[in-house]
Amino acid sequence: MTEFATRVENVSISGIREVFEAAGDDAINLGLGQPDFPTPAHARRAAVEAIESGQTDAYTSNKGTPQLREAIAAKYDRDYGIEVDPANAIATSGGSEALHLALEAHVDPNQEVIFPDPGFVSYDALTRIAGGTPKPVSLRDDLTLDPAAVEDAITEETAVFIVNSPANPTGAVQSEADMREFARIADEHDVLCISDEVYEHIVFEGEHHSPLKFAETDNVVVVSACSKTYSMTGWRLGWLVGSGDRIERMLRVHQYAQACASAPAQFAAEAALTGPQEPVAEMVGAFEERRDVVVDGLEDAGLEVPTPSGAFYAMPKVPEGWCDEVLDRGVVAVPGEAFGSNGEGYARLSYATGMEELKAALEIIDSATAAVR
Ligand SMILES: Cc1ncc(COP(=O)(O)O)c(C=O)c1O
Repeated sequence: MTEFATRVENVSISGIREVFEAAGDDAINLGLGQPDFPTPAHARRAAVEAIESGQTDAYTSNKGTPQLREAIAAKYDRDYGIEVDPANAIATSGGSEALHLALEAHVDPNQEVIFPDPGFVSYDALTRIAGGTPKPVSLRDDLTLDPAAVEDAITEETAVFIVNSPANPTGAVQSEADMREFARIADEHDVLCISDEVYEHIVFEGEHHSPLKFAETDNVVVVSACSKTYSMTGWRLGWLVGSGDRIERMLRVHQYAQACASAPAQFAAEAALTGPQEPVAEMVGAFEERRDVVVDGLEDAGLEVPTPSGAFYAMPKVPEGWCDEVLDRGVVAVPGEAFGSNGEGYARLSYATGMEELKAALEIIDSATAAVR
């Protein structure tokens, strides 16, 4: 019988799915990692027009259409004053593929990859798939990643450390000072910093800062996507930005594994990036209102929760049995340990759900919390 590869035997299907499967049909789902808004009409229309005019029938260039890469480069100039050569961007099948390419291209077998714990589920799994060794590091009390913790975890074997701000599952946003430190660490230790910025525009307090702006070497690669910013998770369109040398290596993987990102999605993404940005501001405004309601509701229920400054997640500390109790009462929340062993004793709540449902869920959470205390 054909054996399975060790690197794939070493990963399992995300624990988040198990929670969804256990939920009843009429449960209020606070487990979802995607915005509950429509993709902006102009992005949809651009894809439809490109399809109808036959522009999407063929492969695009491996890196993506020149127009999309121009739009990605222009975005970095517009948003952060960072100069990006359109030749140094690859359009990918979502941020997920971008993370995969970055790790495949930079991690040798048994090299170490440092990432936040709790952190996005893919960091551990994609490290293992690349043959690397996961090195999760714990977070500060406010659930941000301490650059000093990353620096302490670096060894001779370290290939990469991953920074994610705003973060899934915590909603935490790293300060500019932290991002400067991450850039310094990448420069001084000569290790690659993969900066996962897929929530870059969903920030309520302060601003998003990219370590790409502060690094003096080419040791920062940025991953981002249309998925969260433009509510385009189903379109599967993300990108990578890095130095020419790094892009060339990541392109080798992309070329053979993917050829190019889906052409209709590339046209939609170009329109999303270059068109009116008001839909983003409206969505972020709605998330901020919900964030306030959720944090107040959790605190009223007696739960301790750092106020998330971005993304659309809150991560309260919860008593034992809490997730099962709220699930029994019809609310889906993801147990913190799905995001790493340090997530134990926490739960992740997504507020990418309408206000009325959120309020109903908070009432249930209030009584469920009282029941398990
Ligand atoms: C932190 C983080 N990075 C990357 C991704 C992948 O995004 P995409 O849907 O663009 O593949 C996600 C999706 O949930 C995420 O939360």
